[in-house]
Amino acid sequence: MKYNNHPYRPFQPNKLNTVEMHCTQEEFLNILSGVHRQGIINVIHYLVDQTPFFTCPNAVAGDHHHKWEGGLAQHCLGVYKYMLEVGKELIDSGKLSPESIAIVGLLHDISKANKYEKLPSGQWIHRRKPLHWDGDGRRSIKLLDMLGLELTLEEREAILCHMHDEIGKGTGKHSLLHTLVRRCDRMDAGRNGR
Ligand SMILES: [Fe+2]
Ligand SMILES: [Fe+2]
Repeated sequence: MKYNNHPYRPFQPNKLNTVEMHCTQEEFLNILSGVHRQGIINVIHYLVDQTPFFTCPNAVAGDHHHKWEGGLAQHCLGVYKYMLEVGKELIDSGKLSPESIAIVGLLHDISKANKYEKLPSGQWIHRRKPLHWDGDGRRSIKLLDMLGLELTLEEREAILCHMHDEIGKGTGKHSLLHTLVRRCDRMDAGRNGR
């Protein structure tokens, strides 16, 4: 798949206007449409027609990053772009594929897409009180499985454990993809997200 490696320069970091949200959506969908993988069309359909993925915030409370409208998609696109930038040598040497980076970067937090709803007042709230917290990664994998997206083992592990080091605990063995998404998730949350 085609990709470009320009350094990532986000929109004004702590908010998005309507045009920026629209640009984010268009860019996000352009990249995802370039992924040739079974089930990707179901994922696109889910994001566009069944959830507020492109307008909802990444979080609605607490000291979390990207807490503004459009913040979730902005963050996911940001993680993807940092992965391309930081992982450039790995991509150029064929150790990581741009397609895996697109899937993991763009979709690692897909489970948050149905987590929030917007009140008539404009305020975003949790749709329902979460009874159990599985973790973003675990819920994202469940959702992608439901949507029928074909994933490699490395992609699955990278999404599942993007918040922690469950894989290889004690052995120090992490896949390149897992290490990259963890690093870039934190980079995007820290650099652009407050
Ligand atoms: Fe996450
Ligand atoms: Fe994230």
